[in-house]
Amino acid sequence: MGAASDQLGRPLRDLRISVMDRCNFRCPYCMPEAAYPEGFRFLRPAERLDFDEIERVARVSAELGVTKLRLTGGEPLLRPGLPDLVARLVRIPGIQDVALTTNGVLLERHVAALREAGLHRVTISLDSLDPVVFARLSGGRAELPAVLRSIGAASHAGFPVGVKINTVVQRSVNDADVTGLLAHFRHTGIVVRLIEYMDVGNRNGWKHDDVVPSRELLDRVQALWPVEPLEPNYRGEVARRYRYADGGGEIGFISSVTAPFCGGCSRARLSSNGQLYTCLFATKGTDLRAVLRAGVQSAGDEEPLRQALTKLWRNRADRYSEERAQPSVDENKVRGKIEMHYIGG
Ligand code: GTP
Ligand code: 5AD
Ligand code: SF4
Ligand code: SF4
Repeated sequence: MGAASDQLGRPLRDLRISVMDRCNFRCPYCMPEAAYPEGFRFLRPAERLDFDEIERVARVSAELGVTKLRLTGGEPLLRPGLPDLVARLVRIPGIQDVALTTNGVLLERHVAALREAGLHRVTISLDSLDPVVFARLSGGRAELPAVLRSIGAASHAGFPVGVKINTVVQRSVNDADVTGLLAHFRHTGIVVRLIEYMDVGNRNGWKHDDVVPSRELLDRVQALWPVEPLEPNYRGEVARRYRYADGGGEIGFISSVTAPFCGGCSRARLSSNGQLYTCLFATKGTDLRAVLRAGVQSAGDEEPLRQALTKLWRNRADRYSEERAQPSVDENKVRGKIEMHYIGG
């Protein structure tokens, strides 16, 4: 089955699957404590797609051209039995890469089972090595040593493609810690990616002034360690990659605000209750759960799902980050954006 192209000629290659809307952190830029107090109504287990349903979406997506799956959340390791899902996904014909994005706290205890299940790689979110800043950025929910132990365990677990760190940079919050964090991971084989803080969702009070442009960070890095640009690994790669000239390894810059990369965006996002979104900044999804649960399907007949996916991808014209770059757009007036912990990072 050939791949469908969207309205801008972009193929569907990448499916990001949020397996859990809950998180054990309360990062102020994603799930600020005040907006997610005790008793917040998260999805009920029966509302979330089960592993059979997730596997069905992944299989049909692979038939349509998806080669890469990423498990996200919320915090995906809060989902019981995650290695079982990984083991199913890595066996799907056409799937070449299955990755996990996690905040790391629970990773140490699950890393061996995930590796055993065939997970290809892990990305861990870590915004600061300063214990006080780290504690604030996790909403007071975690201790830095637990995350560092998980990073160590992941880098020794022998994942085929390796370990990356995602660092969201906010001005006057953690930008002073960035070079210390980079220094820590130089010469370890772990790739750090510095992410521009984005206006995802409607609950984080995002302001343009909070963004530290990648250019500014690159200049700071260059002043300490000269770097050289690397060729993209694939068309539409999210991170711009560089290598330290002294052999210290690779770093990446994800510049969604100052240098949008919608032109090559081949990503779809599946929320834990089965809504399919064609953009991180979408305000509306397509209810695949209804398709998955409709009637009694004759065994193995995935035609309704295939048709639903093909149709929504063909109609896709999203390019939010490029539109945001136009001065006429006031991003705080774009209402009803889906929250990050729900749509998946
Ligand atoms: P690999 O290169 O395969 O490791 O993955 P990736 O570059 O897609 O990275 P990852 O999934 O870890 O995403 C890193 C961060 O980039 C996310 O947390 C988002 O902040 C941002 N990002 C990823 N995909 C998109 C996207 O489609 N649009 C926007 N605006 N930002 C994205
Ligand atoms: N801007 C940029 N990145 C974000 N993330 C969460 N919220 C934002 C935001 N507003 C990152 C997390 C994690 C990934 C899933 O998305 O830090 O690394
Ligand atoms: Fe933080 Fe990720 Fe949890 Fe959001 S989903 S609160 S970014 S750890
Ligand atoms: Fe893709 Fe939307 Fe991100 Fe642009 S803003 S890269 S279309 S997810």
